[in-house]
Amino acid sequence: MDNLFEIKNLTVEYKSLNKEENSSVIAVNGVSLTIKEGETYALAGESGCGKSTLAKALTKLVTPKSGEILFLGKNIFKQTRAEKKNYPKEVQMIFQNPYSSLNPKMKIGEILKEPLDINTDYSYKRKKVIIKNILQEVGLQYNSTELYPHEFSGGQRQRIAIARALILNPKIIIADEPVSALDASIQAQIINLLKEMKRQKNLTILFISHDLNVIRYLADRVGIMYFGKLIEEGTTENIFRFPKEEYTKTLLNSAPTLH
Ligand SMILES: Nc1ncnc2c1ncn2[C@@H]1O[C@H](COP(=O)(O)OP(=O)(O)O)[C@@H](O)[C@H]1O
Ligand SMILES: [Mg+2]
Repeated sequence: MDNLFEIKNLTVEYKSLNKEENSSVIAVNGVSLTIKEGETYALAGESGCGKSTLAKALTKLVTPKSGEILFLGKNIFKQTRAEKKNYPKEVQMIFQNPYSSLNPKMKIGEILKEPLDINTDYSYKRKKVIIKNILQEVGLQYNSTELYPHEFSGGQRQRIAIARALILNPKIIIADEPVSALDASIQAQIINLLKEMKRQKNLTILFISHDLNVIRYLADRVGIMYFGKLIEEGTTENIFRFPKEEYTKTLLNSAPTLH
């Protein structure tokens, strides 16, 4: 398997939110990891350990202080114009709260058409077919296109967010706590949808979660973060059966079991 992402010694720092102080927070501290094409890599760790910041660096929402991020071997901050243009099509994100990531004033049809309008020159007819197909794939009806985000349940909205993330056929989906705001039964549906989409579309997934049960079900490999550092990494089986670090053991012990 090729490496989709190679993260080398990545450090991301934020200026302190408190303007009085001239200090900073090191949110990601010298993290190196690779994400292989076709795998589901899970990042675990408690709130504040730097998971979302790492995801934001991969999608260029924050600029690292030091280190490198290579996408298919090329530094994402040194891309050619064509690579820059293509990058958002290849790397898509899904967030915890689909309600805040979907524009409440746009109908679902418009929400799904927008990425096609921006990134392709497909005909109206072709866009319509793509929208129809993707809605079907994520388990929504075509007449959803006429409705607004608030007319859907939380789980359905996450299906819409998944549809939008998939509509340009990305190489990777970065899912940052995508089910953390949903009820347990709905969580399982969305996780299974992600699993199914990955299988059908040869996707790579970076799955970020503090929920180890979900990770165990979904991930091929797991990285454990603690205070900005990647402290342990391994196959899902090895991390769950033979954790090496004390912190990993504590995390595993504190996870309620899923029935
Ligand atoms: N925009 C920001 N400005 C300042 N500090 C931030 C900002 N975003 C996150 N942080 C801090 O960076 C650290 C890592 O946060 P985050 O990446 O959101 O962690 P996680 O996703 O694992 O909960 C935390 O200490 C958090 O308070
Ligand atoms: Mg987070």
